[in-house]
Amino acid sequence: MKFIAFNVREDELKYFEAWKKKNGVQVDVVKEALSTESLSKVAGYDGVLALQTGTFPKEMFAKLNEKGVTVFSIRNVGVDNLDLDEAKKNAIKVTNVPAYSPNAIAEFSVTQLLQLLRNTTVFRRKVAEHDFRWAPYVGKELRSLTVGVVGTGRIGRAAIDIYRGFGAKVIAYDVYPNPALKEEGIYVSSYDELFEQADVITLHMPATPEDHHLINAETISKMKKGVYIVNTARGSLINTADLVTALKNGHVAGAALDTYENESPLFNHDLRNQDLKDSTFSELLKLDNALVTPHVAFYTETAVKNMVYIALNSAKAVCETGTADTLVV
Ligand code: COI
Repeated sequence: MKFIAFNVREDELKYFEAWKKKNGVQVDVVKEALSTESLSKVAGYDGVLALQTGTFPKEMFAKLNEKGVTVFSIRNVGVDNLDLDEAKKNAIKVTNVPAYSPNAIAEFSVTQLLQLLRNTTVFRRKVAEHDFRWAPYVGKELRSLTVGVVGTGRIGRAAIDIYRGFGAKVIAYDVYPNPALKEEGIYVSSYDELFEQADVITLHMPATPEDHHLINAETISKMKKGVYIVNTARGSLINTADLVTALKNGHVAGAALDTYENESPLFNHDLRNQDLKDSTFSELLKLDNALVTPHVAFYTETAVKNMVYIALNSAKAVCETGTADTLVV
């Protein structure tokens, strides 16, 4: 059994080393992402590990099959950038890491919302300029707000627990409601109902073609004036140009965005001193009421360790038994 892992960061290395030592399995790691060029490296391996939010090469699964690879394990949860039909067609088993740390993402989304509600980034900038005045940046307390959670899987449920701890009223929408939460009467029956009632809308669902640009000019017009939007899920859920307009005219009071629809050429790259070629994104960065982070909600020690360990355990399980708890297809 022999694995190769792509897109491996410095902070993951110690977990790869520890797993290799414990399991006595050869795992080779490379820094580069999986691309048409780097795909040639998979020859001779049983399993391939990857982690990237952008697209994978179109021919990837056919190539993996041709080179004798049997398992493709992603070190993250979202499978929206994978052609799973192609994986099946080419007899490649795909695994993911469905729960590396739901709390990491839930905590981060609440952190970002609190910053927006209390204008901390604005005060930080003002203090750096030696402007110590308060007005007009009066804050809002969570206890006085209704938080609308969209998506009540593991991450959404962790977020609900935290918001309830702060005393917020929580409502939720999910196409697949959670039975326990249903009993508590937390669900509204449509997106529109949630948009109309929520002071804060926080997205915790996977990206599907049906929900592409769920947040757009039309849906924003149904939301309360002064709504806050938090997205730590997937960039494609928001029409960013429409959101920028709403942030400028104040219909949306603030947005915390840890994902962006065209993020792969930007996030986790060092683009210092370079002009960004994306005018919508540049526009977003200029706004005081937009809090943009580069897809780091997941990025905690606990999560990173689990992502590496669980992905490797899954690849090993598939090689040894033909399946794994985390099998996607
Ligand atoms: C995921 O787990 O799907 C994430 O969004 C994390 C990211 C590092 C890919």
